[in-house]
Amino acid sequence: MLFPSLRPGVTRTALEIDSTDDGMPTVLWAGPVGAGHDPSGHAPLVPNGPGMPLLGEQSHGLFTRPQLRGFRIDPVHGTTGAAWTPRLLADSIDADDARLVVSSHDPAAGLFVVVEIETLTGGALRARAAVTNTGEGRYVVEGLELCLPVSDQLTELLDFTGRHERERTAQRHQVTDGLWLRESRAGRPGLESATQLILGQPGFSFGHGEVLGVHVAWSGNTVMRVERSPALGTTVGGGELLLPGEMSLDTGESYTSPWVMFAAATDGLDGLAASWHAFQRASPAHPDLQPVVLNVWEAVYFDHDLGRLKQIADRAHRVGVERFVLDDGWFRHRRDDTAGLGDWYVDEGVWPDGLAPIVDHVRELGMEFGLWFEPEMINPDSDLYRAHPDWVLSPGDRLPLLHRNQLVLDLTRPDAFDYVLERMDDVLSSYAISFVKWDHNRELLEAGSGLRGGAAAVHEQTLAYYRLLDTLRSRHPGVAWESCAAGGGRIDLGVLERAQRVWTSDMTDALARQEIQRWTLQLVAPEYAGAHVSSPVSHSTWRSLYLDFRAATALFGAFGIEWDLTQATEEDLDRLASWVDRFKRFRPLLHSGRMIRPESSDPAVLLHGVVAADRGEALVGHFQLDESAHNRGVWVRVPGLEPDASYDLSWEGPVVDIATSMSAAPPADGPTAGQPVSGYALGVQGFWMPRGRPEFASLVHVRRIRP
Ligand code: DGJ
Repeated sequence: MLFPSLRPGVTRTALEIDSTDDGMPTVLWAGPVGAGHDPSGHAPLVPNGPGMPLLGEQSHGLFTRPQLRGFRIDPVHGTTGAAWTPRLLADSIDADDARLVVSSHDPAAGLFVVVEIETLTGGALRARAAVTNTGEGRYVVEGLELCLPVSDQLTELLDFTGRHERERTAQRHQVTDGLWLRESRAGRPGLESATQLILGQPGFSFGHGEVLGVHVAWSGNTVMRVERSPALGTTVGGGELLLPGEMSLDTGESYTSPWVMFAAATDGLDGLAASWHAFQRASPAHPDLQPVVLNVWEAVYFDHDLGRLKQIADRAHRVGVERFVLDDGWFRHRRDDTAGLGDWYVDEGVWPDGLAPIVDHVRELGMEFGLWFEPEMINPDSDLYRAHPDWVLSPGDRLPLLHRNQLVLDLTRPDAFDYVLERMDDVLSSYAISFVKWDHNRELLEAGSGLRGGAAAVHEQTLAYYRLLDTLRSRHPGVAWESCAAGGGRIDLGVLERAQRVWTSDMTDALARQEIQRWTLQLVAPEYAGAHVSSPVSHSTWRSLYLDFRAATALFGAFGIEWDLTQATEEDLDRLASWVDRFKRFRPLLHSGRMIRPESSDPAVLLHGVVAADRGEALVGHFQLDESAHNRGVWVRVPGLEPDASYDLSWEGPVVDIATSMSAAPPADGPTAGQPVSGYALGVQGFWMPRGRPEFASLVHVRRIRP
């Protein structure tokens, strides 16, 4: 059986399933199907593959990492450790084109397990499982992971690592026999997050090759895995990483895993990204329109002064900003990062009249007002901590190490949860706030709860975070939410069910940001990925970059500004305003089209673009990162246009101007000198771009010529 059934011409992720015996169905294969397939009379794609039971079990002779791991503590018989090797019998398999549900049980182990798999807009699948303890005594769940076997053609693995200001650094290696495990144990996906594991055919690229990506839609601890067994081939999957003792079920209790997402494409990483983006764009939480933001963090840091902030707001308004965001530093005792977290009252010293003077000023200028919170954190130097030193996550007998002078508030405690909810609710109700930047600057280290004698509480804390955010969302439906964690440390599809924006990275140097941004967009649609034009000299690297380069980089994300505009020259303000205007003109295309990252034959050049969903236009950026080693220029392919249609190409914004006597200047009337080009030619050969100045970006607007 193929799930979902084939549809001609539609590429989607599918599973070939065999359910001929009484055990869990066997998944023979998972991968992309559809385009080019004829659904009529289709024979099994994999008539005789080894496959993998839906939850790999040792009872079927598997020695791979079990997907359901746990054991029973049975007080009646005084035993610990039974039920560790279940043999699940399928009770029912219900499938339609959108959903596959397998219910199963193991009477001896006292377990009832349901696996659900759903098809998603954009062609991806998501799977989750729930285990219920139906036996005597407690059942301790150590792990419940969802995995799929993939084609043995997929032998290369791409995933990510990183650090502060360098999130989502891609790494690639061969899939070899054994287990590749990416664990995230810091209570949030993290700056070093693997984010997704992508398996592909050898040499897969942005535009070519079969690929299959897996992602765990969960904002707490996660595990992602690729395992190749000498006998069974390769499986890929993941789930929540459960800490010791964290999930112990009493009789009748259940644990449900997070959704594990699988997306496959036949046309490389861009096809895979398109599948993730389509899913996000169909989400009820997707932003209708992403306003141009100005965030004052790098402009003023903790130095909040009404007069100066008003001046920044005036200039923000002048350049066309739509949302002004007041960052860290507005609440009691928060004069630097050593104090105040938890004291969510407007600081009476810095803001004697409350936030109204700045909120009103911003709104009178016609902009939305946004405010920063870090709700899950507490400084030991805070009134909150002095009143409730027991409200922090800790293993019980000692405090975890401080990081950025802060600890994590135990939101699994109803009293702590209610306090933060009441404080945020009060601030959001007191002012016309349209946006919250929700930060999370430190990891959950030794995160136990005093309510449970110091037992690990990351799972409960993650649920409490979702509950807090969901409660605030329902009380303040007009507020948009940004997920930030010391930059891009909490970016996952669990938080994107709730948030409308993510802060991609604290790296605001546009050159260093190129890779961070393009790889973040491998999962996240560009309209979510906050990308700010920073000051001429980067606060991250102290490098100076041209305004045009900084702005062109921000253009391909959720455009914003992070710059003290009181220090900008009049000329800079005019130029910035023209970029804001350009972003607004192209926003409908940039935030609905298909992202393309054409391969560049020159390592000093990075190419990035977006093709409209109706193929009527595209905007393509040529980013000259460094000096080229040659003078050949690059050919820029634009895949995804209508092959038979003609397109006109024109410069958009500043035009590359080579000042060397040895190289040809680009034609003034567009890269093809005003000559129309077919969509076919643009897809297979592309247009030519000369070598540019280092740290210079050129934009090309491709438009279908209507007959
Ligand atoms: C880390 C964030 O990434 C920054 O943008 C800023 O909001 C600071 N925290 C504030 O403390």
